[in-house]
Amino acid sequence: MTHPNHARPKFTFLGHATVRFDLAGGEVVLVDPWLGNPSCPPAARDLPRLDGMLITHGHSDHIADAVELAKKHKPKKIVAAYEIITWLAKQGVENGAGMNLGGTVELLGLQVTMVRADHSSGLPDGSYGGVASGFVITLPGGFTFYLAGDTALFSDMQLIGDLYRPELAFLPIGDLFTMNPEAAARACRYLGVRRVVPIHWGTFPALTGTPDQLKEALERMGVACEVVTLQPGESY
Ligand code: NI
Ligand code: MN
Repeated sequence: MTHPNHARPKFTFLGHATVRFDLAGGEVVLVDPWLGNPSCPPAARDLPRLDGMLITHGHSDHIADAVELAKKHKPKKIVAAYEIITWLAKQGVENGAGMNLGGTVELLGLQVTMVRADHSSGLPDGSYGGVASGFVITLPGGFTFYLAGDTALFSDMQLIGDLYRPELAFLPIGDLFTMNPEAAARACRYLGVRRVVPIHWGTFPALTGTPDQLKEALERMGVACEVVTLQPGESY
């Protein structure tokens, strides 16, 4: 029997780095929960349910609502670096799956592999959050996508491309705290992805990179990758 989550999820960009994906089986997964971010449409802040959470690193713009949401919805599994899960557990959050780079865990029938990100990961109270990470996620049917988290460009994105063959990537493009559109275009080439959804842009004036700049850089470099620009609240 085909697993219900064989089909591709519906992805919704909730502003900044918060991405919701709805699985074919009806489960809702949230990545880097900060629903209070200034770009998130108020109507999108209420979740009907929450079955899983992924946290790439400990910065408050990626974890701000994790404790509240976990207590309210009791997701089946929360996937993050070991140190982040320990920190959440101290605040009464259950069902954490602590891991580290290179490891894979199962989440709602999906395979979630933690991969490198070039970034830092201090927690909101100053605690050590372990390494910053990205995630490669493979559905039971084989569809694979990559969530880079906050990161600079690094050439081992080629390795991620070789190992996992993602079709779709969520890449930060805002500059200052992450790579900019020029670097993100190279990331698309390294990864070999056919589609990219830009994130970590437009939240604050300091994040200057735009999806149009990414599009322009990809065209100039001759990289055949479609930019799927989602405004906060829009789905793909
Ligand atoms: Ni960060
Ligand atoms: Mn960030």
